[in-house]
Amino acid sequence: MTTRFDALRGHWAKIAGTTIAEAFAQPGRAEAFSSRHGAMLFDFSKTNIDAQALDLLVKLAEDTGVAAKREAMFSGAKINETEGRAVLHTALRNLEASVIVDGQDVMPEVRATLARCEGFARDVRAGRFTGQGGRITDVVNIGIGGSDLGPAMACLALAPFADGPRCHFVSNVDGAHIADTLKGLNPETTLVIVASKTFTTIETMTNADSAKRWMAEKVSDPAAQFAAVSTAADKTAAYGIDPARVFGFEDWVGGRYSMWGPIGLSLMIAIGPEAFSEFLRGGADMDTHFRTAPFRQNLPVLLALVGLWHNQVQGHATRAVLPYDQRLSRLPAYLQQLEMESNGKRVSMDGVDLPYESGPVVWGEPGTNGQHAFYQLIHQGTRIVPCEFLVAREGHEPDLRHQHLLLVANCLAQSEALMRGRSLEEARAIMAKKGLTGAELERQARHRVFPGNRPSTTLAYPKLTPFVLGQIIALYEHRVFVEGVILGINSYDQWGVELGKELALALQPILEGRADASGKDGSTQQLVAYLRG
Ligand code: F6P
Repeated sequence: MTTRFDALRGHWAKIAGTTIAEAFAQPGRAEAFSSRHGAMLFDFSKTNIDAQALDLLVKLAEDTGVAAKREAMFSGAKINETEGRAVLHTALRNLEASVIVDGQDVMPEVRATLARCEGFARDVRAGRFTGQGGRITDVVNIGIGGSDLGPAMACLALAPFADGPRCHFVSNVDGAHIADTLKGLNPETTLVIVASKTFTTIETMTNADSAKRWMAEKVSDPAAQFAAVSTAADKTAAYGIDPARVFGFEDWVGGRYSMWGPIGLSLMIAIGPEAFSEFLRGGADMDTHFRTAPFRQNLPVLLALVGLWHNQVQGHATRAVLPYDQRLSRLPAYLQQLEMESNGKRVSMDGVDLPYESGPVVWGEPGTNGQHAFYQLIHQGTRIVPCEFLVAREGHEPDLRHQHLLLVANCLAQSEALMRGRSLEEARAIMAKKGLTGAELERQARHRVFPGNRPSTTLAYPKLTPFVLGQIIALYEHRVFVEGVILGINSYDQWGVELGKELALALQPILEGRADASGKDGSTQQLVAYLRG
């Protein structure tokens, strides 16, 4: 069967004998296989992509209609075809525009909700909105998936800008999560934000009930210290939350794309509306770049093309995201949902089985921690893991500049080591220097060989500010979009999460002893019997 990746695969077969290190014999490779946007630099020169591969990749983006689809997304067309929805998270940050959905400009409502969020955040931060015990000291965001990962990741990323109440995030239905979180908190000075697009997610609603009970032990009107973020105003009202503290959004904002709007309320309370609007400005700035820059200079397009080259052309099943920025330690988890929930699909938009792999497995940890854990496999394992490094020119700790430089040195060293490797001759020379000879030298040397020729990219940025974080997140969102368009899939639904949810609902009464397990398979029956105790 022919596929849209055949020309690229044919080309890869032809150039596979040339290593990445050898490709640097071409003068100007680093500049030619890099792109800058503003103060940001994306370097993909340490990959096997050569000039012709880049031509073919760009042609693929052109032939698959990325530009037209991009305009369809920004202008509010219903590109989420399986759910009949527009995909308009960009409208939450492009605040000047007007965007028509179903004949109506959605922007006045977006701006009004943002203003309400800002007003509430200011009231909380200034102590005008209080708990029964006075000024709010702690905010607990209860949500999961897109209603948790974005604000949780960003609160950590922007910790140097946090000057409001402390923010905590509870997501897991495991009671340990809420119990450990609430343990040190005072219910009389805690604000609970129930963040759920649908307001039906079982984990979130169960945790919200537990938080309400915890608060009711000390607070006479717990609902007065609850706020909600949701598309389901009827359900938030039924839950007893004052509409003045309910912040809505539309179904054209996907859960994993929702941190730009009211789902970002906890972040806004932590860093303040001004810093939050800088975050939005960063996202909008990347939107403009994505919409206007030629594909060869377009960071999201290039990031997507490099991803497709590694995944669909070279056949590498995973991609490691390795931020050399401790405060981005939740970025890999955030990107797991963004990329895998979006592009982990097995059929094309029209329901036909994909003749190639869909999106890759995304994983990672911050450097340098990962170096002392899984980098062994990345350097010497039999599988190739394309690595995506992120690193800032400057940290937030001027007194610890020497530590920052050590961090940067480690980041650069890793991409260099992955590319260069260490040959058997070099390993032999090292062993000879240590005084080894003969068979023992040979045996030891072989363990010290690094094959090299392992691809990586580096995204370098000036400093992790709200603006830069906004740019980075929008960059990855648009990368997912471009990969999805080229793969021909719908990146904006997530039917794959449904079956497990349904089965869990059916298993709960069985575990509680209210229903029997006879219809279940032998393994599930055995586990139920064990776990029921
Ligand atoms: O896991 C499926 C999912 O629907 C995600 O897409 C979403 O981010 C998450 O659940 C939470 O959903 P909600 O915000 O509706 O509670």
